[in-house]
Amino acid sequence: MCGIFGCILREGSVAPQILDGLKRLEYRGYDSIGVATIHSGTLEIRKDKGRIDEVSKALKISEMKGSLGIGHTRWATHGAPHMINAHPHTDSKRNIAVIHNGVIENFMELKQELIDKGHDFISKTDTEVIPHLIEEEIQSKKNLKEATLAALKRLVGSYAIAVISSLEPDTIICARHESPLVLGISENGIYCASDVPAIRPYTNKVIYLRNGELSTLKLGSYEIIRISDGSPVERALEEIKWNIEEAEKQDYDHYMSKEIYEQPISLRNGLRLQEQYVDLITQFLDRGKEVLLLGAGTSNHSCIAGSYIFSKLARLTAFPVISSEFIEVYGSSIGIDSVILAVSQSGETYDTLKAVDHARLRAATVLGLTNTVGSTLTRVSRAYIIQQSGPEIGVAATKTFTSQVIVLTQIALKLAKLRGKLSQDELDDYEKSLQQIPDWVDSVLGSTNKKVKAIAKKYLNTKLFLFLGRGISSSTAMEGRLKLLEITYVPCLAYPAGESKHGPISVVEDKLPCVFLCPRGSTRSEIIGSIMEIKARGALIISICEEGDSEIIQLSDDVIEMPKGIPDLLSPIPYVVPLQLLAYELALLKKLDPDKPRNLAKSVTVP
Ligand code: G6P
Repeated sequence: MCGIFGCILREGSVAPQILDGLKRLEYRGYDSIGVATIHSGTLEIRKDKGRIDEVSKALKISEMKGSLGIGHTRWATHGAPHMINAHPHTDSKRNIAVIHNGVIENFMELKQELIDKGHDFISKTDTEVIPHLIEEEIQSKKNLKEATLAALKRLVGSYAIAVISSLEPDTIICARHESPLVLGISENGIYCASDVPAIRPYTNKVIYLRNGELSTLKLGSYEIIRISDGSPVERALEEIKWNIEEAEKQDYDHYMSKEIYEQPISLRNGLRLQEQYVDLITQFLDRGKEVLLLGAGTSNHSCIAGSYIFSKLARLTAFPVISSEFIEVYGSSIGIDSVILAVSQSGETYDTLKAVDHARLRAATVLGLTNTVGSTLTRVSRAYIIQQSGPEIGVAATKTFTSQVIVLTQIALKLAKLRGKLSQDELDDYEKSLQQIPDWVDSVLGSTNKKVKAIAKKYLNTKLFLFLGRGISSSTAMEGRLKLLEITYVPCLAYPAGESKHGPISVVEDKLPCVFLCPRGSTRSEIIGSIMEIKARGALIISICEEGDSEIIQLSDDVIEMPKGIPDLLSPIPYVVPLQLLAYELALLKKLDPDKPRNLAKSVTVP
């Protein structure tokens, strides 16, 4: 994880822009921050453990001088959050400063080699070998670009780096391998960053660096070369269409609440897919002998929902797989007839990309569903769809889950049509319901908030929550559990309700809150049976059911009523919304920051 930012300005000092950029990258990690600038030929570094605001205030980072600099917001992998492990890291002479996102796998042997040559190391990080390797190369009369190029060839692992040196005070060298990096060009300056929102306030002209590329940035010019052979790369600038307001909090207290309330809009955008791409994906899926849906975290829950949707609408068996397990479970059995639909909001999740690489090596067809144009996933997929949710900053995924499900449903409907698996009437009904989804979500947001707040208050001190659902609602239960545990730190369990008697029921005791997902559908009588089983053991039942569903209402201690007429198969989208709100409200009551849950990061680009 970690966020990196670098910039050279024509006028003024860079420190305020670096801090601003780091704030926009904070979702990638926030246990320490650091900034390096070059002023009058001298390298200055200020860094410490802590959040951006507190560290920058304590160290007066905004007052640092210099029109060229780099900054880093960290999510620790090697070495605890501590000042000495915060980036930038330097060489022995403190001429070179490096920031890094990724993991250097062979750093132990490189470090030993450098120590034997007389280099002093200060931190416990893998990153620190990079400035020392560059220092070694500079001793043999290489310039900063050549020295960095030579150093990178020694590294095994993943990286996005930015390097500056007081020996070449007008240059930033940046490079990437498996960690994201984007360049930005404006009249007043030149930028590099882990992600577009960090540089969007300054420019909408960007270039996405690709794996194995290095770029030399100077005021008014940039050069890109391949790390492998130094050959030049020509790439046109891309224009970013969305503006920074779309990625900002506006009147909301947190990104998470903004993103929850934005869902009617993001879902409407998710319904405006480009037909030709949906067609292409559909054809590939149709040809597959086996279909696997790949994703991590929330994206895995979309895949679980997707497996029910593909099976029920298109009669296609599609197995959901957790990205980090993919190679172990299916790595040896997939091949040329397999189709892998990888789902990833960021398009940069390490485990998902690693699984995708493996699938490609075995000649499987890789398809992508992502929210990020230009992400690695879009480049490695045979065909891909952009879910069009807009930037999501809150670490806990909300609007991107519902968008992924609405996109998967549209693909499944296309496939059903292609395969002749649904009648015209059924297709029309589903189409109509799909178009209604944004309005249903809008009304859920308006009607359930008060009730959710009351439930959050009632269960503020609860030590454990249980989430149960049947059929496709088990994916809703899992996503509801993930939201609650990741931002409130309250342990939660989620199971398909039928499994509860095979274990989870043993944790049920007096007053344990159990959230039941009960849309009307084929599993209704079974879910009523499960509620009675759990209730009989003293649990308090919080049910999310259709408006006026008296049987469920009578069995429940707390009820959140949903609009009538939502088909079971589309229910994860509106039914997850009160669970997102519950997690958010409970986090607020616990005085936790819902946008920055401890130990988590928005985009996990490391193993
Ligand atoms: C991290 C985030 C989750 C996200 C998961 C997968 O764990 O905290 O919110 O669901 O990564 O991310 P992706 O970008 O691949 O969907």
